[in-house]
Amino acid sequence: MIIEKEADVTEAVLAAMNGCTDPRLREIAAAFVRHMHAFVREVRLTEPEFEFGVEFLNRIGRATGDAHNEGILFSDAIGVSTLVCLINNGAGGATETAAALLGPFWRMHSPVTENGGSIVRSPTPGPALFAEMTVTDAAGRPVEGAEVDVWQASPAGFYENQDPDQADMNLRGKFRTDAAGRFAFRSVKPAGYPVPTDGPVGDMLRVQHRHPYRPAHLHVLIHKPGFKTLVTQVFVDGDEHLETDVVFGVTRSLVGDFRRHDAGAPPAADVAAPWYTLAHRFVIEEGEASLPRPPIR
Ligand code: BEZ
Ligand code: FE
Repeated sequence: MIIEKEADVTEAVLAAMNGCTDPRLREIAAAFVRHMHAFVREVRLTEPEFEFGVEFLNRIGRATGDAHNEGILFSDAIGVSTLVCLINNGAGGATETAAALLGPFWRMHSPVTENGGSIVRSPTPGPALFAEMTVTDAAGRPVEGAEVDVWQASPAGFYENQDPDQADMNLRGKFRTDAAGRFAFRSVKPAGYPVPTDGPVGDMLRVQHRHPYRPAHLHVLIHKPGFKTLVTQVFVDGDEHLETDVVFGVTRSLVGDFRRHDAGAPPAADVAAPWYTLAHRFVIEEGEASLPRPPIR
């Protein structure tokens, strides 16, 4: 159609996309165009602002590679990742869920580790942590044989792939739940950390006067055929950034009970006080198991 006025553009684009034969793709693409056009109209986007926005997207692409995913980081920092998580879990957003955003640091093929084993694979200073977790179904029955990936930042706030002082796969492990739905491991207490701020997302945070910190947490991914794969995090209670997580990942049920121990018999001979214990239970929903695409390799 010949465009006679500004209002015609939306209709013309929607009509042009009508031939898409995949109904879901058609629905998503049309809604995207309607919302983008409404956004441009609402803010009366100027030409320099439009150029800036396009360059911002291009910078996100240029900043993304095998070792860093700026696209996920941007979605995280504007709350879209958490929104997608919450509408797709907990009975479609109707009930509380144990799910949380994946983040950009999950790697496939974490080292298989015996139940109760350590995920500290190179010297990592910091208080010892002994985690004991259970996985149940919605009826409270233990789920045996679930594969559980755990990954976390060090007490200095770095994932192993960000830190030349850590061994490959340090603070990452893959466990299998036992007959009681239990998996346990030894680690070190994670620290909070700033998300990477040397790219366009960092510029966005600075101009919005936002701090870049995540509260300290462990990541957990629970996978078993017959259940919806649970991607989640457990946060350290009392962390100063619990209420202001830069990526909006903290929900109430995910605040863990990290208990500090200053006295008594330590759980292992090489442990000095203080050490921490963490007990946590995850409930997984029946559904289809599928692994996310790893954000980095
Ligand atoms: C993380 O928890 O690993 C993470 C999540 C979102 C952005 C950056 C890091
Ligand atoms: Fe993290």
